Amino acid sequence: MTGLGGAALLLGNAVPTKAQIKKEGKTMTYVARDYSKLIGMEGFSETLLKNHFTLYQGYVTNTNKVLDTLDQMLKEGKAATPEFAELKRRLGWEFNGMRLHEYYFENLGGKAGIDTGGRLAKKLIGNFGSYDAWEKDFKATGTMRGIGWIVLYQDIANGKLINFWINEHDVSHPAGCNPLLIMDVFEHAFMLDYGLKKTDYISAFFKNIDWKVVEARLK
Ligand SMILES: [Fe+2]
Repeated sequence: MTGLGGAALLLGNAVPTKAQIKKEGKTMTYVARDYSKLIGMEGFSETLLKNHFTLYQGYVTNTNKVLDTLDQMLKEGKAATPEFAELKRRLGWEFNGMRLHEYYFENLGGKAGIDTGGRLAKKLIGNFGSYDAWEKDFKATGTMRGIGWIVLYQDIANGKLINFWINEHDVSHPAGCNPLLIMDVFEHAFMLDYGLKKTDYISAFFKNIDWKVVEARLK
């Protein structure tokens, strides 16, 4: 089974079985996860979500394809070539394009607000002075001009929580930090439903955050 075929065949089956992994006889290729349960979410049209899922699946396919091609080039003694180097550079972009979308879709679909007495709320208050101050910073980061990702990161070294602007999938992630809440602010995430009104999209995003998932990511 190739990476490409594997991703397509296993679509909708989030976790590969042990038998599937054994059959591969090598590291399992990445499998696109099924987020169709998000369809119907308030403020997100079905068309927008389906387009977004398709785009995500493309990152999974390409991550597998890049990994397979690099592996093949290594076996063929082509590791010192410019082609290998360029593809190696691309790996971080495709991989993060896949993984950041997974974090994003998985922290959506919630109905309830943040548990104000929970660990996460306490940490946000400890770091920012209040929940509202954190939200103001996160939203302000999200409404900056440009496309990218907004990530609430937890610095494992000292527990500090920081909202980061990530311009490209593979650029400016803080090393060793733990992503807690991820918001996609690429135009495909909102333009179909909101046009240029990115703040309205961000409001809709906040109404659908699955805070249980976000809190569970806390280390
Ligand atoms: Fe996206």
